[in-house]
Amino acid sequence: MIKKVSFSYKVYDSLNDLSEPDKKLVLASDEILQKAYAIYSGFNVGASALLENGEIMTANNQENMALPSSLCAERVLLYYCRAHFPDLVVKKMAISVKALHAVIKEPITPCGACRQVMVEYERNQQSDITVFLKGEVGQIYELKSIGDLLPLAFKTDALKRH
Ligand code: THU
Repeated sequence: MIKKVSFSYKVYDSLNDLSEPDKKLVLASDEILQKAYAIYSGFNVGASALLENGEIMTANNQENMALPSSLCAERVLLYYCRAHFPDLVVKKMAISVKALHAVIKEPITPCGACRQVMVEYERNQQSDITVFLKGEVGQIYELKSIGDLLPLAFKTDALKRH
């Protein structure tokens, strides 16, 4: 037997093609990337999250000279959301990037470690998180679920949940 996994996503040519609330969310991730602590990579990433109460939370990547101690914007953001709003569903997220030495002309997609964290967040809240992805210029992608980004994600009942 062969099983097939596939998904589709929307592509927008410009920010102005998004609805006003979605544009606001993407602009929030665009804005917060300016404050990223990305002095080693010169690669600024901003992330924003729309909570079910309508509030938008934002965060960015945080680096350290012990490079593996750095953390991506997506995880800084979701860990903050869980710390402060553990009972609020995250409805949508946006991720924007801007590099010091290159113009990023297409969206970047979250790294594997972030996908794993994002997928657990989505599963725990039992509701999909829509994700907008944006480079410095160019098209914007809209994915309807984090699960699409990580098919066959690690999951087990063998680890006890306390
Ligand atoms: N980074 C993120 O913040 N999110 C991603 O999805 C990919 C990479 C950060 C980590 C590091 O600070 C810099 O971008 C270069 O990898």
